[in-house]
Amino acid sequence: MLPDHPLKILVVGSGGREHALCWKLAQSNHVEKVFCAPGNGGTAQEWKCENVPIGVMDFAGLEKFAIENKIDLSVIGPDNPLAEGIVDCLEKAGLRVFGPNKEQSKLEWSKAHAKNFMDRLKLPTPRYVVCRSYEEAKQAARQNEWARVVKVDGLALGKGVFVCDTEAEVLAALEQIFSSKSFGTAGETILLEEKIIGEELSLLMLCDGKHLVQMAPCQDHKRRFDGDTGPNTGGMGAYSPVELYDRHRTQIEAQIVQPLEKALASGSLSFKGVLYAGIMVSDSGPLLLEFNARFGDPETQAMMPRLKSDLLEALWACTSGQLDQVTLQWSTDSSCCVVAVAQQYPTSSSRGEEIISTGSSEKTGTVLFHAGTKYVDGKVVTDGGRVLAIVATAASMEQAAKNCYAVLKTVSFKGIDYRRDIARRAFKQCLSS
Ligand code: GLY
Repeated sequence: MLPDHPLKILVVGSGGREHALCWKLAQSNHVEKVFCAPGNGGTAQEWKCENVPIGVMDFAGLEKFAIENKIDLSVIGPDNPLAEGIVDCLEKAGLRVFGPNKEQSKLEWSKAHAKNFMDRLKLPTPRYVVCRSYEEAKQAARQNEWARVVKVDGLALGKGVFVCDTEAEVLAALEQIFSSKSFGTAGETILLEEKIIGEELSLLMLCDGKHLVQMAPCQDHKRRFDGDTGPNTGGMGAYSPVELYDRHRTQIEAQIVQPLEKALASGSLSFKGVLYAGIMVSDSGPLLLEFNARFGDPETQAMMPRLKSDLLEALWACTSGQLDQVTLQWSTDSSCCVVAVAQQYPTSSSRGEEIISTGSSEKTGTVLFHAGTKYVDGKVVTDGGRVLAIVATAASMEQAAKNCYAVLKTVSFKGIDYRRDIARRAFKQCLSS
């Protein structure tokens, strides 16, 4: 049951995902105020929102702020504070938190643990082998010609996956991990996984410890350049809904979602927060590639404008074990999200460049979420690699993409760049850039 006083929310994080969460939570009639720690240039100006200058890893500072400001619910965005136990820390102080505790978030931060769990539940997943030394890993790479994906077991902040084509590339990745020790203790154990060719989708599920509710499926674009080429990034764009999901829905639900539901109900899975399943649909059907223990970025930006239900009510239900009483309503509109990045992203970021926006978002059903931005002296300036996420919703995916790109033409900062083909695979038609 929600309290009958106006609620104060604390969103932890500073990316486009957190701006989208703040934007949506602020729309709830139950919500009086949304604080974002540390937030960005967008959350600084968002209706009902206010930034607080506390970093995501400053658990003592966040706890003190939440207690002193009588925060009713804290919502954790990024993976690193979750993996380091922010939820355990805030809950110990008697605070209500949306997100998994450290042990639960191990499904994201330990790839070996996640695979072990998938095996226990017989969830379909690519073949793999866990290696605990350089020698063992080299030997496994040579012996298993299917092993072309290398994953660092521990938290690697999105940089611990190497998708290779040849044995030589696998061996080079292993050398980077084990010899240079660039991942620290996270790289002491690795996973070699079969490379699957197919199309990926993201299925996010809200969990309250016992029940789960699926969110709208999304697809993101991880590669930097058009045509899904170039280095992997944090995400260059996303769209929802996903026709691929509709085609494989029966199998995905029977083989992945229902076993997870049963595991939650029986207690063999304990999880509260967002369980994000990265699913590859190959010729042989859906395979579960990985779990994340948080909202996706930029999937959240693409999803929130389609969500008709009150997000606060859903997140609150997750923290009270009452998710079985929640049904999420989604607009039938399509949503397209394009991320505007710094020219050299992901190699480097942009700092201090003024962002100019001359467009009006209301006309076209678009929302401009900020990511790497800062509000300084009445101006918004760049402050990161992924700078903005422009989202448009429309009756068709093609129209949503067109509207999104039209808004992008009205936004500028020095060195702005973005992919020109976001959501194109959803309507298979060229967009003019
Ligand atoms: N979009 C990928 C992620 O959030 O990890």
